[in-house]
Amino acid sequence: MEVLRWEKNCLLILDQSELPQNTHFIECTHYRQVAQAIQEMKVRGAPALGAAAAFGLALSAFNFTGNEGSTFERFLLEAAQTLRATRPTAVNLNWAVEKMLKVSHKLSGKTLAQIREGLLEAAHQILMEQREQDEQISSFGAVLIPSPARVLTYCNTGALATAGLGTALGVIFKAHQQGKEIHVYVPETRPVLQGARLTVWELKQRGVPFTLITDNTAGSLFAQGKIDLVIVGADRIVANGDFANKIGTYNLAVLAAYHRRPFYVAAPLSTFDPNLKKGEDIPVEIRNPDEVRKIKGSLITYENCPVFNPSFDITPHELVSGYITERGIMKPPFNDALFSRDLAL
Ligand code: MRU
Repeated sequence: MEVLRWEKNCLLILDQSELPQNTHFIECTHYRQVAQAIQEMKVRGAPALGAAAAFGLALSAFNFTGNEGSTFERFLLEAAQTLRATRPTAVNLNWAVEKMLKVSHKLSGKTLAQIREGLLEAAHQILMEQREQDEQISSFGAVLIPSPARVLTYCNTGALATAGLGTALGVIFKAHQQGKEIHVYVPETRPVLQGARLTVWELKQRGVPFTLITDNTAGSLFAQGKIDLVIVGADRIVANGDFANKIGTYNLAVLAAYHRRPFYVAAPLSTFDPNLKKGEDIPVEIRNPDEVRKIKGSLITYENCPVFNPSFDITPHELVSGYITERGIMKPPFNDALFSRDLAL
């Protein structure tokens, strides 16, 4: 399943807002189209957002038509700012933009053709490294899954969210490939329904048994002893281990703690933000109220009904049993050396 594809100076983005009914790609020939696709959640999931933003910046070098280095620099910074502002919680987006700016800085003095080539190569490298990290996360995480296991996951953290195997869902896929007997419970994930539309689609394609539930069913499943463990992804994990993930994640962490079930977070190191000390420092994206008022374009309440629509919530680190990363399974305090953010280019 290809989520992002570069073809002839154009970034093709699989439109996730149309899945699973329609599989179509949006053609982006300008970085502003990439920014719009990110904002409208045509592409989503923290790692995939980072990769999309990296290609968006590469694209901006193709959009630039001037010939002066300083004007290009301003153009690139403007593109970086536009892309960064699209979704403020997922730190991978900012991380990828920073990496690309660093690469561009190293290329200063080169011809525009060389800069374009260098930025494009860096974007491809981000994507490639992400795929390798997903494999490592999945292998480390699969060890934590017993057989048989009834697993609760949330939102979508598979191939669609990372452009690789996935993080939390990657762990589930890996354990399934290893022959473990797994049943996955998937909350639908209102308001945008990533669970109902995307996660079950991915699980079905890979032949992993699952049951779709409404978001408010999880508590009852725990109470009946039907959940063995929870595994979710993250949009930003800060220095003390508090993390942001899809709104509703905190509810599941509290349920897991109350019912004494392990609660794991699977994420690459690019999702860690050691610059922020605790969860309350994380900027939480508030989205359009119409996402709550409507389902697939149909109004389910009255027009202009007051709505609160945060895209993410913050889960405190005390509720997390372990953080599954490409370097292994961790617990805070994290080792600072892990977060060296330089791109080896
Ligand atoms: O709003 P979304 O769909 O981008 O939110 C996605 C999530 O919350 C995921 O759990 C997170 O980005 C990790 S994806 C590997």
